[in-house]
Amino acid sequence: MSLTPFIEDCGGVENIARVLVPDERLIFEVRNPTLIQGNIEGSQFNDTLSQITYRSFPTPASEELLNLGKGIAKYQLAMAEDFILPVDCDYRPLWHVSPPKGLLNDPNGFIYHNGEYHLFYQWYPFSCAHKDKHWAHLTSKDLVNWQWQPIPMTPSDWFDSHGVFSGHAVSNGEELMLFYTGNVRIDEQRDRHTTQCVAVSKDGIQFEKKGPVIFDLPPKVTPHCRDPKIVKHNDEWLMLLGAQREDLKGRLAIYKSDDLVSWTFHKLCGDEMGDFGYMWECPDMFELNEQLLVVVGPQGIESDSQHHTIPHHNGIAKAVLSDDGDITLSEFRNLDHGFDFYAPQTMLTADGRRVISGWMGLPDEDDHPSVDSGWIHQLTMLREMKFVDGKLIQMPIEEMTSLRGEQHKLSLNNSGADLQTKSFDLTTTLEWGSTLSLFKGEAHQLDIRLDSESRTLFLDRSKTEVRQGDKVRELALTDSEQVELRILADTSSVEIFINQGEFVMSSRVFTPKQATGIVLEGQAQLDIWTLNAADKPFADKMA
Ligand code: FRU
Repeated sequence: MSLTPFIEDCGGVENIARVLVPDERLIFEVRNPTLIQGNIEGSQFNDTLSQITYRSFPTPASEELLNLGKGIAKYQLAMAEDFILPVDCDYRPLWHVSPPKGLLNDPNGFIYHNGEYHLFYQWYPFSCAHKDKHWAHLTSKDLVNWQWQPIPMTPSDWFDSHGVFSGHAVSNGEELMLFYTGNVRIDEQRDRHTTQCVAVSKDGIQFEKKGPVIFDLPPKVTPHCRDPKIVKHNDEWLMLLGAQREDLKGRLAIYKSDDLVSWTFHKLCGDEMGDFGYMWECPDMFELNEQLLVVVGPQGIESDSQHHTIPHHNGIAKAVLSDDGDITLSEFRNLDHGFDFYAPQTMLTADGRRVISGWMGLPDEDDHPSVDSGWIHQLTMLREMKFVDGKLIQMPIEEMTSLRGEQHKLSLNNSGADLQTKSFDLTTTLEWGSTLSLFKGEAHQLDIRLDSESRTLFLDRSKTEVRQGDKVRELALTDSEQVELRILADTSSVEIFINQGEFVMSSRVFTPKQATGIVLEGQAQLDIWTLNAADKPFADKMA
């Protein structure tokens, strides 16, 4: 059955905001209901959703639906044009990736392909809300300066109408393939449908959606099944998905393929973790120094700390992968101990380093001061991961030194200084009992307090302008005689690398623009480099 009469009946492609095809229904969400002609018998209009439903509609040829998706995408891209111009804002980072407008969440599709680095992210351009996600796209030659690229995917199709959700990329010869989750919501009760989809690019810039490669859910799994990661294993491909079992336990779903097109469900893995959260999001898997590791974001685990009330965690576990493709996990630990780190992705650099970037933000928190200027959240800086003597180490990628400006050597003894910038790279070693305050102004500061009795580092943002979330994070460092810190600050964030990268704390920190002071209660030498701005990603768009 051709789509054409239905498209005409509802006022043409330009009037279609979404297309849905659940169980023999064809549903169009329309922009302007008065343009509906109503010539097709049996159609029904739902005012609340602004959706017209045509019944007994056998699924039409997917080529025709894909073409309709292209038509809808054209309109969505035109709407997003105004939102790719960044708004000026005192909280705007100088060298972190932040959205021009709207809301950023997970990094996606992080990969080295054909001589360039590609980094995508989840993006809702039109407001600071978690709504129909697009992918944004940046490329880089040096991992420091990123160039904005045309929007690669919008929620234009029947399989991703309510969000082109997270996923990874595969560099397949000349082709760049994006695997992602299509998120669809049906009817007023918003029934969730998820499929695993693929889009392909020949030039690394223009992507063509091919539609779902996995249409059905694994047995006994709820529609919370998403965020594909593809890895090569022996002669086959494995797809790892974050999944929720029907008994509300988070697990990893594993699929297998010979050709990246046809996928067969293998099994659910992770039972050895027991009751470990109600959902696992955004898996990743890679080897570091011959140790296989799996990254996953379990939701709904209680924290040991009374200060930590957020259900969304991030972490990494040791993994064993059998020849059959079964994954067994052990020794889960947090990847980051700050306030804001979630849904990370890793990538192998051209020279073989494993580099990670996460979302410096959290689900459920979408009201912070930058919202007043129309944007929220950013990605963390890129960190190199190593596995040394059984320990995971994360440190800033060495390329970060290219942003270094002036060097200051400060000797502080219960004293302070004005750095006159909030963008710096600071190294120091502190004694227990010291408190280092950063981003300090008249009434604001971020405190890093080393409590000598409990040998615990407290990161305290209660004297900042943060609007939601916890105020204190704690990290026990019982074995440390002193605490070595490397802190990279950028306008509205700090990333604190502790004891040569054994622990990291990432946090957004909002204080007024003039709050550029630094104060140390205690005594220490501080080696500080100011950090210059990276090239503007939107350079060719800016006047
Ligand atoms: C994690 C997440 C993913 C999902 C995406 C949607 O933050 O919930 O599981 O694919 O965000 O934006």
